[in-house]
Amino acid sequence: MNTILVTGSAGFIGSNYCRYLLKNYPDCIVVGLDALTYAGNLSTMQDLQLTGRFRFYPGRIQDDCVVAGIIQSEKVEAIVNFAAESHNDRSLMDASSFIQTDVTGVAVLLEATRKFQLKRMLHVSTDEVYGSVDDGRFTEQTPIAPNTPYSASKAGGDLQARAHHIAYGTPVVVTRCGNNFGPFQYPEKLLPFFISRLIDHKKVPLYGDGSQVRDWVYVEDHCGGIDHALRHGNPGEVYNIGSDAECTNLEITHMLLSLLNRPESLIRSIEDPRGGAHDRRYSIDASKLKAMGWSPAHAFSSALESTVRWYLENEWWWREITSKPDYLSFIKNYYGRYLQSDL
Ligand code: NAD
Ligand code: DAU
Repeated sequence: MNTILVTGSAGFIGSNYCRYLLKNYPDCIVVGLDALTYAGNLSTMQDLQLTGRFRFYPGRIQDDCVVAGIIQSEKVEAIVNFAAESHNDRSLMDASSFIQTDVTGVAVLLEATRKFQLKRMLHVSTDEVYGSVDDGRFTEQTPIAPNTPYSASKAGGDLQARAHHIAYGTPVVVTRCGNNFGPFQYPEKLLPFFISRLIDHKKVPLYGDGSQVRDWVYVEDHCGGIDHALRHGNPGEVYNIGSDAECTNLEITHMLLSLLNRPESLIRSIEDPRGGAHDRRYSIDASKLKAMGWSPAHAFSSALESTVRWYLENEWWWREITSKPDYLSFIKNYYGRYLQSDL
């Protein structure tokens, strides 16, 4: 597989996966496709463009003519799909674009994989399709039970992949991972949102009592797991990706305060805006992929430290985003009544 179409290449994990491919496979040509929504930025792909082995097409995955044109002109052999609407809070405000991209878009890519007889499609999903688990861990056999419009749309994409494989033998593999962190994450998600605000000595809005548990994965480990599943996974199967790093939101907020040397008084506990849709705990059993030879390479605490350092050293990247009018109006609308003068 020397020519790979990476959709969502201007986003957080998609851009990191392009970097991973270009670094680890010297003969690989990476073709990026991204709709450049609010979450996709050309600045995120600047370094990729310099390699000479990356080509970018602006466009939407649900536009079948766009997808077909790229596959034919670039002689694409495989698709790795990261393109998605990905933020739970936004999905609770309006879910229509989530259904368009996360369900219809996936169906278009599956159909293109079948029509052009590609070697493989890897669909990047999420542990959130399993819902919330109080005890034990999510395995690939755990029933799907999503609780937000975002996770329900991701579950819709997963089911399209399952049905396509059963009905047509489409060579699709699905991966499900927990909360990622690392460079180039859009600063609306917990870690980059809090880090960028703490750098500026601003308060951070912690939902409820901060007791929800997330199972954290460094983005490079996620990329390695995806790549392993792409090359060694069995068509039609699902593979969980995780690195056994569970902690509560309150715990991880304290780690950030400590890494940035900021006082506890910057935590503002707010009424939970996700209400009953806020999943309490995610916990991933990744033993299936580990049994196939993959393992995470980064320890949680050092990866968190280097992530904080990256945001300190790359203010040019996130300040361009946090100063945009659409970012400022989202933060003001969603958090304004809690953060008031400290927006
Ligand atoms: P992101 O929001 O940072 O990036 C998504 C990218 O997709 C953006 O560049 C956006 O412009 C693009 N996009 C949106 N709609 C599109 C469309 N219709 N056509 C083409 N491009 C479109 O998201 P992310 O955090 O990088 O997540 C990538 C994938 O990984 C998603 O499928 C998400 O569900 C999954 N995932 C994310 C995490 C996480 O913690 N961030 C964890 C597990 C799985
Ligand atoms: O588990 C995988 C999922 O992880 C991915 O599928 C999603 O795309 C990704 O966004 C992430 O979903 P979460 O909803 O868990 O991530 P988020 O960073 O938005 O929130 C993490 C936790 O922190 C969650 O319990 C809500 C809480 N939170 C979040 C924000 C933005 C806060 O307390 N305050 C905040 O301001």
